[in-house]
Amino acid sequence: MTILFISGSTRKDSFNTKLVKFSYNYAINIGIKSELVDLAIYDIPMYQGDLESENGLPQDVKKLKELFYNSRGLFISTPEYNGFFPPLLKNTIDWLSRSEVEDEEPLKVFKGKVAMIVATSPGKLGGIRALQHLRVLLNNVGINVLPNEMGIPLAMKNFDKDGNLVDENLKNILFNHISSLKNFINKDRNNKNC
Ligand SMILES: Cc1cc2nc3c(=O)[nH]c(=O)nc-3n(C[C@H](O)[C@H](O)[C@H](O)COP(=O)(O)O)c2cc1C
Repeated sequence: MTILFISGSTRKDSFNTKLVKFSYNYAINIGIKSELVDLAIYDIPMYQGDLESENGLPQDVKKLKELFYNSRGLFISTPEYNGFFPPLLKNTIDWLSRSEVEDEEPLKVFKGKVAMIVATSPGKLGGIRALQHLRVLLNNVGINVLPNEMGIPLAMKNFDKDGNLVDENLKNILFNHISSLKNFINKDRNNKNC
């Protein structure tokens, strides 16, 4: 089953999207079944209860729910906005947490999923303040968030024009994290077989 690689920013030159793509390429190289998910292509309004009661779930929420449901988990890179992750991620998770039909198991799309979370920002802390909150949100919906996380600071210096992470130390830490995601998936698969 696939790991979905998601950026919390849809900005054209987003550093988080660069980090997601860089991480995705490494994940593919080491044999993790992976898929890039661009939240920009999903037409998802800001959650509003009346909208849901009157029209049900928007088509693109249903599409994304299906994708999440059929995945093994997530790799998310989040921007930090005033110490928090951005509304785009909260709104997406909120919609995905809603049931499509009355007897749907609560939070079914998140059940049994694993997540790895990272961040990057032009600032010195690399967005790490957003990670603690994103971890809590993902835990609240039932996702097992792996302990390894990292923030890549000074994004303007640490990524080249092609979106590659250039600092060797940071690259090693990131690659070790992604390898630990692979180990987790493999161990978990073995445990479920026995
Ligand atoms: C509303 C807002 C709040 C921000 N707050 C922070 C912050 O708390 N810490 C930080 O490091 N950068 C902060 N930034 C700068 C973002 O890290 C920067 O815009 C970054 O490039 C956004 O991620 P992206 O490149 O993936 O779009 C903020 C930017 C915005 C627009």
